[in-house]
Amino acid sequence: RAVQCSLSPNLALIKYWGKRRKKHIPATTSIGVALNKLRTSTTVAQINSSQDIIQINNQQLSETVIYEHYRPFLDLIRQRLRVSHHFFIDMILNFPLAAGLASSSSIFGALALALPTLCDVRLPSSTLSSLARLGSTSAARTIFGDFVILPAGARYARVWKPISYWSDLRVIVAITDHARKQIATRAAMHLVQRSSFAYRGWLWSAQKIVATARKAIQKRNLEQLGEAMRASYLGMHATMLAARPPIIYWNARTLDLLHLCQELRLKGIEAWETMDAGPQVKILTRQKHVARIAREIKSAGEKVEIITSTLGAAPQLKNVPFSSVNQNDIAYAR
Ligand code: DP6
Repeated sequence: RAVQCSLSPNLALIKYWGKRRKKHIPATTSIGVALNKLRTSTTVAQINSSQDIIQINNQQLSETVIYEHYRPFLDLIRQRLRVSHHFFIDMILNFPLAAGLASSSSIFGALALALPTLCDVRLPSSTLSSLARLGSTSAARTIFGDFVILPAGARYARVWKPISYWSDLRVIVAITDHARKQIATRAAMHLVQRSSFAYRGWLWSAQKIVATARKAIQKRNLEQLGEAMRASYLGMHATMLAARPPIIYWNARTLDLLHLCQELRLKGIEAWETMDAGPQVKILTRQKHVARIAREIKSAGEKVEIITSTLGAAPQLKNVPFSSVNQNDIAYAR
């Protein structure tokens, strides 16, 4: 038997950036929504092997990569679920990996949901969110649909408001570079906390930004939410600019798009951008503006891939027959 989980990365409208202690406790509150068009489809099965086997987009990961990036998480999962066997994990992503589109959060979120189901262990959603957090902090948000909040200092995320509360929201993801990023998010965050004089200012301002964003969502006020989103991502990137050495994830196309959003807003089109630890620009808008914004991006000569997404879908989990798993890889590992 195998279990399949299909899950979307969760875009932070308001950012988590910085850890309180070890174990991925967030230093700032984040509010996020699932980007429904982006999907990670993960199939897991138990195997009689002395090691875990993981493949992403049909490429088997090396032992070193598994050891460094997945083994600590999988060992913790085995410990929590009281099982000792290894897993076969097959993941297919329909969007670029490690390019600032929260791929790792969707990977760990999917594993935190699929592995307990595979081992027949039923856990409350708060525990599942907390398990996901052990893989990647922002993954704690991915196991829910709707508007999700991960409070500063918390071990798990929770649903704050149904997405149906504000259903005409859309996100346009503008991919300016498909390449893997040079500096991993975790390393960037670590460097910021160690060396950036702006980090204190970020912590100081973060709660106020969250409070404004919550009020804005409550009132469905996109301008107010957009201003809070900009304060959040720009503050986060300011901590990186002030790090030693500085970290700059943006490229020339990124900057062009940020200026374009500003121009569009001056023309009365609601285009409120946010960015994560990478060069991609995500623009929050309403359904009625999507076609116009996409047209403007294209006519500005931007060489960018555009994906428009609805928001807030919950993950899907199902049992699938073992025969649907790519068994050649399992035989190879035995
Ligand atoms: C910029 O959760 O990927 O996307 O805690 O080290 O696992 P770790 O980092 P990660 O950081 C995500 C940061 C962000 C903002 C966000 O999603 O809230």
